[in-house]
Amino acid sequence: MSDSIRCLEFFSGIGGLHYAVNIAGVDAQVIAAFDVNEIANKVYEHNFKKKPLNKTIERLTPNDIAKYKADCWLLSPPCQPYTQGGREKDCDDPRAKPLMHLIDLLPRLADPPRYLFLENVKNFESSQSRRKLVEQLDALGYEIHECLLSPIQFGIPNHRLRYYLTARRCHNTQAKNDVSDSYVDRCTINTTWPFSEEAHFELPELSIFLQPEADDDERYKVPFKDLKRLHNFRLDIVRPDSRKTSCVTKSYGSHHIMTSGSMMQTKKLEITEYDWSNSESLTELGLRFLTPTEIARLHAFPLEKYHEGVISNTTSVMGGCRPFIGPTVQPYLEFPSSVTIGQRYRLLGNSLNCWVVAELLRCHLFQR
Ligand SMILES: C[S@@+](CC[C@H](N)C(=O)[O-])C[C@H]1O[C@@H](n2cnc3c(N)ncnc32)[C@H](O)[C@@H]1O
Repeated sequence: MSDSIRCLEFFSGIGGLHYAVNIAGVDAQVIAAFDVNEIANKVYEHNFKKKPLNKTIERLTPNDIAKYKADCWLLSPPCQPYTQGGREKDCDDPRAKPLMHLIDLLPRLADPPRYLFLENVKNFESSQSRRKLVEQLDALGYEIHECLLSPIQFGIPNHRLRYYLTARRCHNTQAKNDVSDSYVDRCTINTTWPFSEEAHFELPELSIFLQPEADDDERYKVPFKDLKRLHNFRLDIVRPDSRKTSCVTKSYGSHHIMTSGSMMQTKKLEITEYDWSNSESLTELGLRFLTPTEIARLHAFPLEKYHEGVISNTTSVMGGCRPFIGPTVQPYLEFPSSVTIGQRYRLLGNSLNCWVVAELLRCHLFQR
């Protein structure tokens, strides 16, 4: 009988956490996924050949969960309750309900999961939701670790500062009766990778993540009408030799060009200083959006095609942590042709960096 770790993936989206498990190369498998977004579920099923359950998570009962005999919960709940755009309503936001429900379910299970992993936006660390989660985990005897990390720290030229929580329950741990030594009073949130001593991974040029053919593709051009609305706002313009890009949000590719992610300069590459007061001058730069494939590469999804420069570096450094290697483990992320470019941007903007999660699973949560 296989004793591989049985994972449940809650809020599965396009399966970023499932891909991370595969990339980590650990003895674990995702046995079921849960999400209510039908488009995300279509992409998930296309790639993993298994449809996530589209029942809202707050309606799951202890019996629904117990039947999977899961050892691990992987969670990436909606981030809007903790963002300015979502008005930071925290536990009072209806979108926080499914997470609250899972927290309430934990002590009602005869056999709670041995491992738990959660990803969310920066800000979650100061929320009431996070407090409820860690208090529950602490009371149930989990060993908790929290961190705030960005793919930049892993050698990937993309900013995406995210909160990660790992929790491990030791066998035979009884629920804690003594609350005097509570985790919330002594916790620290780690911001270095690896945790012991920071490594410095060299950041590669953006060029090795790019699809040069997209430079002439009208679908990715930044419309002039949107540039005209900038009113001195400084976009994050990147070039093929850049070594950093901004965090891609779910509005990327739409008319929200200001803070949704970086814009690629494809012309007049000798111009590196911009006249923000004159939007006409920006048109000669041939600005385009990153393509969904380029974003998927920056988010380290397994894809059939990575530039050789992204797959050749396999040197392991410090505590077994690896510099980024473009993952080619199957299944790849592919979008069914019926999923529009706009939908692809939204799904990818909602998703996560698979490499960062894979390294946290491999070097930290599942390390025996
Ligand atoms: C931040 S995204 C997670 C993205 C995912 N990690 C990925 O790699 O694509 C949150 C997901 O939670 C799903 N969701 C939100 N509320 C839900 C609910 N009540 N029950 C089930 N899924 C829900 C959304 O449809 C969305 O796909």
